[in-house]
Amino acid sequence: MAPTFFSVIGKGGSAMAATLARSGMIALLAAGLAFPAAAGHLDVPNLFASVCGFCHEDGGRHAGKGPQLMNTERSDDFIRKRIREGKRGRMPAFGRMFSDEDIDEIIAYIRALKPREQASTE
Ligand code: HEC
Repeated sequence: MAPTFFSVIGKGGSAMAATLARSGMIALLAAGLAFPAAAGHLDVPNLFASVCGFCHEDGGRHAGKGPQLMNTERSDDFIRKRIREGKRGRMPAFGRMFSDEDIDEIIAYIRALKPREQASTE
C-alpha cells in the first residue's frame, strides 16, 4: 500500500513531498494506512487527525493547506472524485487507499461536521 501512495506524491510535486517529509508526515501517513484494516471500517476522525488534517485543519473545520470542508457546497460526486483523484501538486490521490464504502463514510463525516463550540457547549 505505502509505495503506491508515495509514488503518487512523487508525481504530485516534489515541493509537497519535501513538505510532507520535513514534517514527519510520512510516518503519520503510514499509521493512517493501518486504520481501515484494524477497525474493520474506516475510522474517519482518526484519519482526519492524521492524514487529512495535515491540510484540512481541525478535522476539516478550518482551512489549512487545503480548503475548509465543513459546510462545503461541493456535491458528493465532486468530493468523491477529489478524494479519489486528488489535485495535481496540491492534494494526493487516495483512490487506491479507500473503497467506495470508505469514501461514503468520509462524505458522511464531512456532512456531519459542526463547529467545536457547538459540540462542547451542550
Ligand atoms: C497535502 C495536503 C492535503 C492532504 C493530505 C489532503 N488534502 Fe484534501 N485538499 C487539499 C487541497 C489543496 C485541496 C483543494 C484542491 C483544489 O485546488 O481544488 C483539497 C480539496 C479537498 C476536497 C474538496 C473540497 C473543496 O471544497 O474543493 C475534499 C473533499 C478533500 N480535499 C478531502 C480530503 C480528505 C478526505 C483527505 C484525507 C484522506 C485529504 N483531503 C487530504 C489538500 C490536501
